[in-house]
Amino acid sequence: MGSNQPNKDNRLSVLIPEDRLQARIQELGKQIRSDFGDRPITCIGVLKGSFVFMADLVRAIGGEVRCEFLGVSSYHGGTQSSGVVKITKDLSGPIEDQDCIIIEDIIDTGLTMHYLLEMLSVRKPRSIHVCTLLDKPANREVEMEADYVGFSIPDEFVIGYGLDLGEFYRNLPYIAVYTP
Ligand code: IMP
Repeated sequence: MGSNQPNKDNRLSVLIPEDRLQARIQELGKQIRSDFGDRPITCIGVLKGSFVFMADLVRAIGGEVRCEFLGVSSYHGGTQSSGVVKITKDLSGPIEDQDCIIIEDIIDTGLTMHYLLEMLSVRKPRSIHVCTLLDKPANREVEMEADYVGFSIPDEFVIGYGLDLGEFYRNLPYIAVYTP
């Protein structure tokens, strides 16, 4: 039987509880809407990890928002980055002349975001920004600074709220540190 309760699984310890996540996402949404005024924003969620964050963030942004998704796989079921970025699903349409924000669950080495920025920039968006729920700056392999960051966290493997370990734990409503 599965459980959402961390105290039932001693490998999990809560790092960011649900109420702090939700409060910060409201702040991010307000900040983004105020920075873009009433212009339409194309939010590009990086699958799979960003799907929970994206759902809450686009509602916090409000106004005119397009939702697009990019399928990316960079980890292969373990806890280490492979450094290899594979596109598993492309955008559904062009982004030329659109104000775009890439929505990511976590920036770790920075390799995935570096690759995505290069890949999307050639499609001539009006602007392109990066919003990440979590940032692990200690583990960077390339220079990468997001425009909007929910929480900066230590270099530990985290799960929940979209983030997985071997495809599980994405449905936890909080962020937890996983210690095997
Ligand atoms: P990067 O290319 O190393 O910056 O990693 C980006 C991707 O790796 C994220 O979109 C996540 O899918 C995954 N990732 C990085 N750190 C973690 C973690 O602590 N838990 C779960 N997934 C992670």
